[in-house]
Order: sequence, then C-alpha cells, then structure tokens
Amino acid sequence: MYNDNPTLKDLPKKIDETKQGEVYFTEGTKGGKKFYIESYGCQMNFSDSEIVASILAETGYSPTRNLEESDLILINTCSIREKAEDTVRKRLRIFDKVKTKKPGTIVGVLGCMAERLKAKFLDQEKLVDLVVGPDAYRDLPKLIATADEGEKGVNVFLSREETYADISPLRLGSNGVSAFISITRGCDNMCSFCVVPFTRGRERSRNAFSIVAEATDLYARGYREVTLLGQNVDSYKWENPETKEKVSFATLLKMVAAVHPDLRVRFSTSHPKDITDEVLFAIRDYENICKYIHLPVQSGNSRILELMNRTYDREWYKAKIDRIYELIPDCAISSDIIAGFCSETEEEHQDTLSMITYANYSTSYMFYYSERPGTLAAKKYEDDIPLATKKKRLQEIIYLQNDVSRKVNQQDIGKTFKVLIEGDSKKSDQDFKGRNTQNKMIIFPKVAGHQPGDYVQVKVKEATSATLKGEMV
Ligand code: SAH
Ligand code: SF4
Ligand code: F3S
Repeated sequence: MYNDNPTLKDLPKKIDETKQGEVYFTEGTKGGKKFYIESYGCQMNFSDSEIVASILAETGYSPTRNLEESDLILINTCSIREKAEDTVRKRLRIFDKVKTKKPGTIVGVLGCMAERLKAKFLDQEKLVDLVVGPDAYRDLPKLIATADEGEKGVNVFLSREETYADISPLRLGSNGVSAFISITRGCDNMCSFCVVPFTRGRERSRNAFSIVAEATDLYARGYREVTLLGQNVDSYKWENPETKEKVSFATLLKMVAAVHPDLRVRFSTSHPKDITDEVLFAIRDYENICKYIHLPVQSGNSRILELMNRTYDREWYKAKIDRIYELIPDCAISSDIIAGFCSETEEEHQDTLSMITYANYSTSYMFYYSERPGTLAAKKYEDDIPLATKKKRLQEIIYLQNDVSRKVNQQDIGKTFKVLIEGDSKKSDQDFKGRNTQNKMIIFPKVAGHQPGDYVQVKVKEATSATLKGEMV
C-alpha cells in the first residue's frame, strides 16, 4: 500500500515483517510548526496518514522528514502481527531520545495499536503524549492543544459513521501519478485470527459522490491511477439519502471508471465471499478497470478455513478462481497466506501449497500465524504449532510462490503491455518503472519525450519472480 505511495506489490517478501515505516514529506514547508509522520501497516493506514496530514495542515502544521526539527512526531501504527507492534516500540525508543534532547516535542501514537492498547499506552510508554484511534483524527487539533498544556490527550472512540468523506487528503510522498481513495472503513467480518475488527470498528461505506469527486479532482491534477481501498471493498454499499438509490461496489467501480478512460482504477482487498459476477463483468468490460484481483485465501484447507471463520471452503474458493479466469482470462490474482494456524497438520499445510499452484497467483503476501490478544482464535484455540514449524511451512510457501511467480512472469516474455509510467526505477535514473494492468512492475529504458503519468507500450524481454524488464515499442 504503498510509489513513495508504495503499493502492496512493492513490499519485499519478508518473513512476517511489516513494511518499514514510510516517512512522508512534502517540499516547501511554510515555516511555523512542523510535524513528522511515519506509517506502518496496510494501505489504509498510509491513506489515513494523508487525512491526518490534511487536518494538521489546516491547523497550521507543515510536514518535515527531519525528526529533529519537528514539533510533533506521529507514528501511525499497525497491530496485525506481534512483529508489527515490536517495530513501533523500537521506533518509540528513538523518538524518546529526540524528545529528551528537545523537551516540548509532542509524540503521538495513531492507528490500530493506539486503538488496541488505548490509555494503557500511556502507562507503558511514558513519553507518549497522544493516543489517537483511527476514527478520532478530527479531534487531533484539540488533543494537540491539550498536550501543549502538558496534559495527555487520548481519543480512541470508534465511530459508526466517520468516513472522513469531506477531507481532501494531503498527498504526501506521492509520485503524482497514483493515489489511494478510501471507500470503506472498518470490517464486519470476524476472521478468527484478525485484530482489525477490534482496531477499526464496524464497516461503513463512504458517500459514492465524494469518492467520484476525489477521483475527478485527482485526474484534473495529473493523477492517472486510483486504488479504491477498504478491508473488504466488495461489501461496499451506500444509499443515496435523497433518491434512495443503492450503490454497490460494482456500480461504484463503473462510476469511478467513467471519470476518464485514462484514469486507471484498482481496488483492494476483495474477500472471496463478497466478490460478485457483477464486479467481474465490470473488470472485463472496462479497459481502465485493472485486470488484477487481490483475493486472499489465507489457507487452502477447508477445516482450517472453518476455524479461521472465512466462510468459504477450498472447493468454493477454487470455483471462484475458475470463474475469474473464465470471465477474464488475462486477470492476475494475488493472495495473502497464513502458515501454521492453530492445529494445522502437515497434510493441511500441503493443501495451502497446492492452492498456490492451482490459483496460479502472480504474487502473495505470506506470514506465519501470530496470535493477537482478544481475537476469537486467541480465545478459542491453542496457538500450538511450534515457531520452528511455522517458519518451515512459511519458507515452503514462499519458495513455491516465488517459483509460481517466476513462471507466471516468464509467460509475459515477448508480450507487449500498456504501461503507466510511475517514475524512475529504483536502481537507475536511466530507466522508468511502471505497471501493466495486471499490476506487474515493468522496468524499461527511458525514451526522450516521455514522463511519469504517460501511457506507453512496452515489450517484455526478461522476467524474474518480482519484475519484468522490457523496451518501449
Ligand atoms: N482485509 C484483508 C486483510 C487485512 S490484514 C482481507 O480480509 O483479506 C492483511 C493480512 O494479514 C491478512 O490477509 C492475513 O493474511 C494477515 N494476517 C492477519 N492477521 C494475522 C495474524 N494474526 N497472523 C498472521 N497473519 C495475519
Ligand atoms: Fe481481518 Fe477478515 Fe476483516 Fe480482513 S476480512 S480485515 S482478515 S476480519
Ligand atoms: Fe495493521 Fe490496522 Fe491495517 S492492524 S494491517 S494497520 S487495519
């Protein structure tokens, strides 16, 4: 999630580690007070940091990437796995040092870990001044004022309505080409392993017209790709209060795609149980709706899926995969996979491996199970798979997925794709990077007269498990 708005695809396939904090920065600070913000976790969190930045800018703060010169240090946190929380605590040690050198600096914890630990945070981390949950960012100016007076500021109220629909996010660290648009917040599913329903609250859908307006504005400002974000985008539903007209996710996709044929539309994440044929038809029928679906399976075994409360089984998921390839043969599908969930046997793990081959995922985000306090799994099941076994299974999953990714990518050699240029490649300023509709990153030598935001045709010459290399034609 995630450009210097990097996307999931950019994430290194590390073993059970969240992305390093991305530091947001905008050139041209106007003087006055400065804030520094670091974000961890999913795209939703990165998107939220842009909402926070917008609220702070209204309050007169400008962004900086220099910790030492900041008056306000914020860390937007993730609770999804234990390691994610460990990373945050390590960063807080660093912030403590800055604060000791420069008393008066305010340190605030935002996001999912703030929501999970609430005021307990203040006991555990003495130098933290603010604890603000994902639905309370409008309250930041007031809470900062409280902290300025030497008091602690806490707001972890979870809302049933808040969607920040009227706030125009400050696009921090953006490449000017692709942007995120949040369309739902929260999650009403209760996957037994997952902390998100507790940290983000009930699912709510944002006003469809505000989503289209944001996409229209982004297009006018030169952006050429939007990613519609939600924990479960396919369950998007919004009713126009005046006409009582209902907008489903498929309808919303088409509304955003209609903004301009040159605006690419992506979306994440799709829960397999909620993605409908209507959505698949929209992907098939609109050239600018990308042929890429992130469809996390979590496990390939029906008993484990039942324990995970995913509400589908192996056969049902396979039928969904079949349907996608039947309707959209050139669609790329990716996944999230958890190794070593409670009571998983070796045979059941083999079912996950065979699912990777069956679904022919272009890529996956792979983790070993990390028990989260308060979740259904923590209450009901024993976390009984030894760490060494979890790691071994995860290694096997990563190994197989890399092999499948390489094969999938090698099939692209010789093909020509329409690529949206995102910027310079990481390795060389002589090369551009960009993506095709399947969300595959393609690196190719620059040709004069082209710039980020342009669509070009690129013929693929080489492929690894992670990237394609080619030349413009
Ligand atoms: N809403 C998305 C997932 C959000 S969390 C969905 O339903 O697909 C991103 C991924 O983190 C999950 O898909 C899952 O694979 C992983 N994850 C969540 N909780 C976890 C846990 N307790 N241990 C390990 N991985 C976990
Ligand atoms: Fe977590 Fe499941 Fe909701 Fe995804 S759908 S956020 S995994 S509870
Ligand atoms: Fe992490 Fe919260 Fe996202 S727990 S994955 S930042 S919704």
